[in-house]
Amino acid sequence: MPDGYTDPIFVEDIGESGFRIEQQYNHFNIGISPQPSPGLFIRAVCQMLLKQIKQKQARIGIIGLGYVGLPLVIEFGRAGFQVVGLDIDPAKVDRLNRGESYIKHIPSKTLRELVEQKQFKSTTDFSSVSNLECILICVPTPLNSNREPDMSFIIATAREIAPHLKKDQMVILESTTYPGTTRDVLIPELESGSGLKANQDFYVAYSPEREDPNNKDFSTSTIPKVIGADSEYAMECANTLYLSFINKTVPVSSTQAAEATKLMENIFRSVNIALVNELKVIFDKMGIDIWEVIQAASTKPFGYMPFYPGPGLGGHCIPIDPFYLTWKAREFGITTRFIELAGEINVAMPEYVVNKILLALNEKGVSVKGSRVLILILGFAYKKNIDDDRESPSYKIMELLLQYGAEVEFHDPYIESIGVKREYPQFTGKKRVSLDSIDQFDITIILTDHSDYDYEAIVKQSRLVVDTRNACAKIKSDKIIKA
Ligand SMILES: NC(=O)c1ccc[n+]([C@@H]2O[C@H](COP(=O)([O-])OP(=O)(O)OC[C@H]3O[C@@H](n4cnc5c(N)ncnc54)[C@H](O)[C@@H]3O)[C@@H](O)[C@H]2O)c1
Repeated sequence: MPDGYTDPIFVEDIGESGFRIEQQYNHFNIGISPQPSPGLFIRAVCQMLLKQIKQKQARIGIIGLGYVGLPLVIEFGRAGFQVVGLDIDPAKVDRLNRGESYIKHIPSKTLRELVEQKQFKSTTDFSSVSNLECILICVPTPLNSNREPDMSFIIATAREIAPHLKKDQMVILESTTYPGTTRDVLIPELESGSGLKANQDFYVAYSPEREDPNNKDFSTSTIPKVIGADSEYAMECANTLYLSFINKTVPVSSTQAAEATKLMENIFRSVNIALVNELKVIFDKMGIDIWEVIQAASTKPFGYMPFYPGPGLGGHCIPIDPFYLTWKAREFGITTRFIELAGEINVAMPEYVVNKILLALNEKGVSVKGSRVLILILGFAYKKNIDDDRESPSYKIMELLLQYGAEVEFHDPYIESIGVKREYPQFTGKKRVSLDSIDQFDITIILTDHSDYDYEAIVKQSRLVVDTRNACAKIKSDKIIKA
């Protein structure tokens, strides 16, 4: 800025003639029209967006109202911003506009308050993007049938919003993805569909979600947020935006570094879970209880962090995200051996559990094949105390048991009936059974250790229990087999 001038304090689009930029020169307000230089204009506009963010006048759009998008709606709303939710699913939009959450651990109460105060509304109409200042994208990033990144949701979203994009807006991608997505996929789509230039006309950042559903120790606002942007202005705006409701942000040098950070975190989990799953199998053969060993090892005050074995990986993140890097690494001629080995071990876990079940039945003189063996699966969600059953290993275990000729029923306090699952269409609509009938089953398998269950009572009523989560740790009974 030339000597004597302040940063611009006001910018107005005056059409053909450019912009009226108001700044102070030696304490006098002056108006400059049209814009004097592109550099000054960018700085001025950023100041305007920043000002709107700081004053909570920026209107926020959240695209993808799922497990990641909905908590963000609530946090932005609580922080005092106007929030518009955009989703392609009209049923979700209708429910949310009635103030009803469709996710169990996200309470309707706050949503309803935001709707009643006219601070939050949802829509399927993407033209509303033109009335927003900051747009956050939280759409799914699954793997396709070849186990390669499925970018179709990000691309579809970019194509929906690009025609409505205006100057001075900020777009932030939150979906988990491989390094380079923001720069090589999102920005080109937004630029070609809008005719605008990223980080000059509009600003772009990447900030991965670190949501841990239903974790009572951390909430969206207390989990530090990593932010990457490819321009100073974009970083300043994104950082200010998140600091309005998050205690701590972690700015990194680029969108790629932020994308890589998220993948690293999830790969770390996947590899460590695989390691402990492998140790479980080895120790079991040696007659050693892995859970006891983990508890003892966890007393080491440095250099150790506990991970726990289970029936296999589940959820939208850990079974999927590592393979985003595997795919990208191939482009650089690198094989991700650790990631793939971890994947192999974790994917083999449902089969391990099923073998344990077959052996346990065999010990009791019950053969699965040819006889009517009823197996009750407790817990369909991929982790305790939530209703998310995406990628849950319970599906694979149920499928394998059916193939062996068993009759299988399930119970989950959070899941009444099984919804549509791309990989398991045969289970759609299957309803949970009542826990009252537990004694009629040959075996009860604990696949998710929901806190709602009374495990004493379950063990008492069951004929045999296979416990994959150490849920029955405190119960002494020879009916319990750990798997
Ligand atoms: N669930 C988690 O715990 C978690 C944690 C961290 C990161 N993530 C990542 O966040 C992203 C979103 O995950 P999620 O769990 O919230 O998914 P979700 O399936 O719960 O929600 C995604 C929402 O996006 C909507 N949608 C799909 N395509 C759309 C489009 N073109 N335009 C608008 N809306 C669209 C869907 O209808 C759905 O409501 C993924 O990349 C995921 O890997 C998830």
